[in-house]
Amino acid sequence: MKQRVLMALRENNGYVSGQELCGKLGVSRTAIWKIVNSLKEQGYNIESVRNRGYRLIECPDVILPEAIKEQINTKWFAGKIIYHACVDSTNNEVKRLADSEKEGLLVIADEQTAGKGRRGRVWQSPPNSGIWMSFLLKPDIPPDKASMITIVAAMAARRAVAEATGLSPLIKWPNDLVVNGRKITGILTEMATDIESINYVIVGIGFNVNNKSFPEELAATATSLEMELGHEVNREKLIALFGKHFENIYEQLIADGDLSRLKSEYEQYLVNNNAEVVIDNQGKTINARALGINEKGELLIVDEDGNRQAVRAGEVSVRGVYGYV
Ligand code: BTN
Repeated sequence: MKQRVLMALRENNGYVSGQELCGKLGVSRTAIWKIVNSLKEQGYNIESVRNRGYRLIECPDVILPEAIKEQINTKWFAGKIIYHACVDSTNNEVKRLADSEKEGLLVIADEQTAGKGRRGRVWQSPPNSGIWMSFLLKPDIPPDKASMITIVAAMAARRAVAEATGLSPLIKWPNDLVVNGRKITGILTEMATDIESINYVIVGIGFNVNNKSFPEELAATATSLEMELGHEVNREKLIALFGKHFENIYEQLIADGDLSRLKSEYEQYLVNNNAEVVIDNQGKTINARALGINEKGELLIVDEDGNRQAVRAGEVSVRGVYGYV
């Protein structure tokens, strides 16, 4: 109910009378008064004027699932949205629900206390700043094709950021988004499989949106959309745009069984394309030049002796010769 009162206040620039809210939401004036008071305690600046009603003057940057649902317009992505002000990790939360929920379940948190990055790293997930979200997929594809989903998620995130902000992020293979050489988005894909089939895939994605700064150890490699643009970005809109693009490209992947329709767009923004890279394969490093990706999303490389090979996401890590990119 709190969410619905907030939505009603947010939709209206001026005053909304208590009576109007009661009629719209089907609750008593006292109930509305109590909800408004509790919103004020949460930091919402709401003016109450006798005979005129309530007016939202300022609200903290919160994510409202109701507002996402209004904007998202997808067939199955985010068919159900669960929002937590704080959770250990949205990937963990989806994992706990995976057996009982349908494909498309989206879990969003304002803060994560145990955000997980790739390769066992910690993902800093402070409140009121980023989008920390994970969604559930149950694809009918062989397990060895699952790494392509990660490429799809990166492409959807790139399109969403470009559409929402006008920025043009690059992609560091396989799935980091980078603006001015610093990371704005990371993706962690986890899956549960039987011998030959996938039970489920969890795609976890973190967007640094309205972070004002980063701790010293991340400052050289991380940035946020706000830091790049100089103004805040609406997180709900970005989530809705991501959903639209993800559903669209994911359906292409399932129909085609590969990334043939995505390859050229992906390569257009691939920061490593034709660049010198260092490939780390479980401690063994190779200096090579990246030549783009193949239809399976593997990175094509040629090493210093001219040997060509395709390396797969999840098996190797890639960095630039002079650092992160
Ligand atoms: C990376 O290391 O680049 C991957 C970072 C993935 C972070 C996201 S935030 C939402 C989801 N929940 C997690 O615990 N991790 C992912």
